[in-house]
Amino acid sequence: MQHIRYQNSAMQVEEIAISDLASRYPTPFYCYSANAFRQQYRRFANAFADFPALICYALKVNSNQAILKILAAEGAGADVVSQGELRRALAAGIPAGKIVFSGVAKTAAEIEFALQQGIHCFNVESESELYQISQVAEQTNNTAAISLRINPDVDAGTHAKISTGKSENKFGIPWKLALQTYQLAASLPGIKVTGIDMHIGSQISKISAFDQSIARLVDLIAQLRELDINIQHIDFGGGLAIPYTAEDIDEQTLLAEYAAVISRYASQLNCQLIFEPGRFIAGNAGVLVTKVIYVKPVQQKTFLIVDAAMNDLIRPTLYDAWHHVAPVIEPQTDAPTTVVDVVGPVCETGDYLALDRSMPKVAAGELLVLHSAGAYGAVAASTYNSRPLIAEVLVDGNREHLIRPSPSYQQLIDLDSVPDWL
Ligand code: LLP
Repeated sequence: MQHIRYQNSAMQVEEIAISDLASRYPTPFYCYSANAFRQQYRRFANAFADFPALICYALKVNSNQAILKILAAEGAGADVVSQGELRRALAAGIPAGKIVFSGVAKTAAEIEFALQQGIHCFNVESESELYQISQVAEQTNNTAAISLRINPDVDAGTHAKISTGKSENKFGIPWKLALQTYQLAASLPGIKVTGIDMHIGSQISKISAFDQSIARLVDLIAQLRELDINIQHIDFGGGLAIPYTAEDIDEQTLLAEYAAVISRYASQLNCQLIFEPGRFIAGNAGVLVTKVIYVKPVQQKTFLIVDAAMNDLIRPTLYDAWHHVAPVIEPQTDAPTTVVDVVGPVCETGDYLALDRSMPKVAAGELLVLHSAGAYGAVAASTYNSRPLIAEVLVDGNREHLIRPSPSYQQLIDLDSVPDWL
């Protein structure tokens, strides 16, 4: 990672040493590189520079206002899945006309709010949602631009909990029902059909899965145009995988292969291309910084008990995700190693951040980072075990800013309201 690496044996984010940050901000905290976000956004956008393309950053991966400002300045649009995300995108200055609204259960209130803002399009997931959108649009004298999210029934070859394009998943409209659902959409008074959409899963490195799915959509576009339903944009969703280990996939090659597949179809389509990348932009732009509280050797292994936990980073226990763990001070190459489990303070056996890692000897008080934590990290944090929501720090060159402070214990307690009879 160009922006997060050892410099003179100390891990730095851009120009600032993580150990310096940790002297100013209590651990645990997430730390992001602004230039890594910019670089990833530009790499993605450049891959489609020959086409009319709109890059709608998927807010669900990391929706801190500071991050959204960086991406808004790059020209990004947004993919949102709730009114909260829509409001976050607008607050950061992303124009409504560059926002697509995805998600399986948009409520009438969310639809109305989005219509008032003038978003680019709703990605519709069911017939009932079509009726709902049409009704809200009519009642508010609006017309809703929609695309249908098609479920192509393709195996994306990723973790079961993040695969969304199989027929048994709750997402999208089965591709075999697409034509009839489009005809229904075209007949509804509050609806204007503008596009077609897919999103088959996340952390996908099997390019053939994209290829197969896109082929289905492209075929549908031709059939729809024959029915005078003119598809003006195709939304490919997100899903591109990133490397989590040094030996993992080569990201640039994967992006090039993905772009090649899309270009092959896009040149004949005469459509705007929409993308909803999330992990690709954010994943390797952030780390989780944590401190070792105790080292606990038991008979079979050694536990490194750190101050970050599953409530701060849920991915290892929820998806068996692998985040590279490294000491902030670079170990000697010949330093002896031990096998450790990196675990947190939460009272659950599933509270681990890394299992069976061979690591140089680390002592209590030392700092560690978990790499590739910029996506689906802070956004999925909770206050479980009454641990305050984790802080986030941004580094941009030689500048740093606490872009989300961790609330105080009193603020945490004050979220509750006690009835006056108690
Ligand atoms: N568009 C839609 C409609 C989505 O549901 C998602 C992710 C994306 C775009 C962005 O996908 P990406 O480019 O990031 O793969 N929490 C899990 C991943 C959940 C993915 C949810 N949908 C994890 O930590 O691996």
